Amino acid sequence: MRRAIFLGVISLAAAWLLSSASAVPPPTLVRIALGWRLLADRRLSVQNNFSCLDCHQPDRGYADGKAVATADGLNTPTLYGLAERTTFGWFTPEVRSLEEFVLRPLNNPREMGPITDSTLDRLRADPALRAAYAAAFPGAGEQITWEQTAQAMATAIRTIPRPRTSDLSAAALRGQALFTELGCSACHRGPTLSSEAYLNTGVSRDSRNSGRSRVPSLIGLAQTAPYFRDGSAATLVDVVRIYQRGGSVPGPGVNAAISPFVITDGERADLVAFLSSL
Ligand code: HEC
Ligand code: HEC
Repeated sequence: MRRAIFLGVISLAAAWLLSSASAVPPPTLVRIALGWRLLADRRLSVQNNFSCLDCHQPDRGYADGKAVATADGLNTPTLYGLAERTTFGWFTPEVRSLEEFVLRPLNNPREMGPITDSTLDRLRADPALRAAYAAAFPGAGEQITWEQTAQAMATAIRTIPRPRTSDLSAAALRGQALFTELGCSACHRGPTLSSEAYLNTGVSRDSRNSGRSRVPSLIGLAQTAPYFRDGSAATLVDVVRIYQRGGSVPGPGVNAAISPFVITDGERADLVAFLSSL
């Protein structure tokens, strides 16, 4: 895990060197380093039992391999591609930034919360950590706040590089064409293959946010099974089979772009080859 983090920081530093002409000043490397340290630190949870990376595991595509993570009944999404996104969370269109979202697991009693001052006191008692915050937030004095914590974490998350991919195989290329032909790209498009929309695709009867869930990115899918907000699809083959049926719970609330279709087993395999290569 440490190695993945180290490589993440190094590759970002290289990316900045290459894009040094950009107008926006890059966040400092110390803030990124602090962010990574905090993402891995269980002291940030009230009970000292969870760090962010316990659920968003770098070697599982920043997910956890479980159907659902907690009694909230939600699947852990990957942290890939979040620098390019404007919506966060399965059911939370009201959240406007990554910084804002990051406070949610910190405050959620079923994840690491609730947020308390005594949790911060634990961090403040660590001189090395105090120094790391002071270096990452120059001018703020030797203080440690939840706001700084969320900022450092969000900055670190934005540095996560996309998984390395190779050229598409012949099967994956056929799958890519099918992806467009079947209308998948109406919702999954752009660099992260999302569209930042919240829609009902007939995954379940969960009525949070009126049953409308956020269109996830499709980056690193090969590493992030199981799929869907409730983890109800164990494999990408299952995902495609569910779309073939027009959703698991077809009904009047389901988006009009979701309707049953017929493809051969070979075509399904092509589509899965494409999805596995993203
Ligand atoms: C117990 C497991 C667990 C822990 C611990 C956890 N997460 Fe999550 N994370 C989840 C689940 C489940 C969701 C989906 C929640 C939702 O949609 O409301 C999620 C969603 C996210 C998202 C939104 C991703 C997206 O695609 O929109 C971000 C960002 C995130 N978590 C970051 C963090 C950070 C930072 C921490 C530590 C402060 C953390 N998580 C701790 C399970 C966890
Ligand atoms: C109407 C918009 C829409 C269309 C069309 C659509 N999707 Fe989705 N897709 C979504 C939404 C919304 C979700 C999240 C559903 C959930 O879990 O609640 C999703 C989830 C997924 C996931 C799971 C990702 C994960 O990390 O859990 C995959 C894979 C996927 N779609 C592939 C496809 C394919 C392949 C097609 C075409 C056959 C397709 N989608 C068509 C909106 C759409």
